[in-house]
Amino acid sequence: MTAATIRSELRFVLNGQDVTLRDVAPDQTLLDWLRVSRLLKGTKEGCAEGDCGACTVLVGRLTPSGGLVYEGVNACIRFMGSLDGCHVVTVEHVAAGDGTLHPVQQAMVDYHGSQCGFCTPGFVMSLYALWMEAPNPSDQQIETALQGNLCRCTGYEPILRAARAISSYGGTDRDPLLAERAAMIERLKALKDGARVEMGAGRNRFVVPANLDDFAALLAAEPTATVVAGSTDVGLWVTKQMRDITPVVFIAGLDELRSIAVQDGTVSIGAGVTYSEAFETLSAQIPALGPLIARIGGQQVRNMGTIGGNIANGSPIGDTPPALIALGATLTLRRGADRRTIRLEDYFIAYGKQDRRPGEFVEAVHVPVPKAAERFAVYKVTKRRDEDITATLGAFRLSLAADGTVEDICIAYGGMAATPKRAFAVETALTGQPWNEATVEAAMAKYAEDYQPLTDMRATAEYRALVARNLLMRFFLETTSAAAPAQVSRYEAA
Ligand SMILES: Cc1cc2nc3c(=O)[nH]c(=O)nc-3n(C[C@H](O)[C@H](O)[C@H](O)COP(=O)(O)OP(=O)(O)OC[C@H]3O[C@@H](n4cnc5c(N)ncnc54)[C@H](O)[C@@H]3O)c2cc1C
Ligand code: FES
Ligand code: FES
Repeated sequence: MTAATIRSELRFVLNGQDVTLRDVAPDQTLLDWLRVSRLLKGTKEGCAEGDCGACTVLVGRLTPSGGLVYEGVNACIRFMGSLDGCHVVTVEHVAAGDGTLHPVQQAMVDYHGSQCGFCTPGFVMSLYALWMEAPNPSDQQIETALQGNLCRCTGYEPILRAARAISSYGGTDRDPLLAERAAMIERLKALKDGARVEMGAGRNRFVVPANLDDFAALLAAEPTATVVAGSTDVGLWVTKQMRDITPVVFIAGLDELRSIAVQDGTVSIGAGVTYSEAFETLSAQIPALGPLIARIGGQQVRNMGTIGGNIANGSPIGDTPPALIALGATLTLRRGADRRTIRLEDYFIAYGKQDRRPGEFVEAVHVPVPKAAERFAVYKVTKRRDEDITATLGAFRLSLAADGTVEDICIAYGGMAATPKRAFAVETALTGQPWNEATVEAAMAKYAEDYQPLTDMRATAEYRALVARNLLMRFFLETTSAAAPAQVSRYEAA
């Protein structure tokens, strides 16, 4: 790469204004910049960890197919460096220039959707994003869109009533963001000059690679750099743990990592594909994964967070790894031009230790679609349904032989060990045996050989051990009941 292709400026559009910045810290959050540098204080800070939604803004980004999508994101854990070429829209930009409220705002006023008002800008932005995509949303769509917004005052019912009424205040045809979409696409395209963005010096530096090869070369040369995709984990390292993450490489803008394709019975998911982007394809191909994704964070987190990041961080309570392990997924890792593909389960070595060599990154995960005769289920057990981290998650894939014996079973859990982990002893006890209650009960005793779970704030060790056993029984009952679905995904309250 020649010096001519390196740019030392960050360029994006804020509301209606072009912005060029030459001095941005690698860990500068969008929320701090909006409030401190731009004095745009409509965007609030509630939790600084992606949970409450008070900081919700819209980020418009060009899609690989040349469109423009606006998504609600948590400004508190979104780093400035990831915004190159984007359109940031804050609550200050929602009302018309003459002060006339937007239909979303007017509905919130008329239906008393605001009391102290602290959460209100965040709700307005989330509802705005929803209304642009679904002007007449179902209650289910409204609840999904608002999973990531908390209000301590209204009790939510007035907000839900406002959400149902928005379209009666005006159609999307007159919405400025939608009316100006074509012009904004051209404006954002003009910002995309194909250059690498590099800012800062020494360790105190961030880079936005020009493309995937550039990223691969960069990381091979500087293996200790922090890779940041959606920043829904790394953001908290900064805001909650005050960790030094420098130098940083931002990869959210790399289109080559954002593809999701189905070929020969396998779904290949680029490491930069967000939960929101993966939802449709995964729901269609492996229906049990749809409801699981819908329970990861709130909509803002799903708009930023990636499956690649969920795998790469190696957490024992990440939701997708056990499900993908049970499905027999493989992982492609890349260093420079070299690639290797391993079984996903082999990636997780020990707590905080993954099979990722210096300079390597996760490029894609490949997920076999279960065959028609296979049964697949995933159960996430949490204290509350929405926006909660797993206490225990069990995933099961089963093939039965013609005589009703277990031909093949793959079982993986999260929250039961230091890594996402298969239940080999349980699998062995079941394989070749008749798929009946007696076999399952006998196999339940084997969990003690596979897992010695911990007690923490989410659940006790005893509770986890009991739940793990019971999930197997549940899977058995669901696969043998008269109306057994091929795939299920369930929530249980702990
Ligand atoms: C409010 C909230 C709720 C959440 N709820 C859930 C939940 O319900 N279930 C759940 O599983 N998780 C949850 N999370 C955690 C998080 O959203 C997920 O782990 C997410 O998938 C992380 O993806 P990311 O792109 O944001 O990763 P980042 O934060 O960008 O990165 C995470 C880690 O992966 C590394 N990394 C990222 N991409 C690559 C790559 N391509 N190659 C190598 N390394 C890479 C980073 O260096 C870092 O170590 C939640 C987070 C928040 C803030
Ligand atoms: S401040 Fe709570 S989600 Fe950002
Ligand atoms: S109106 Fe007070 S927090 Fe929602």
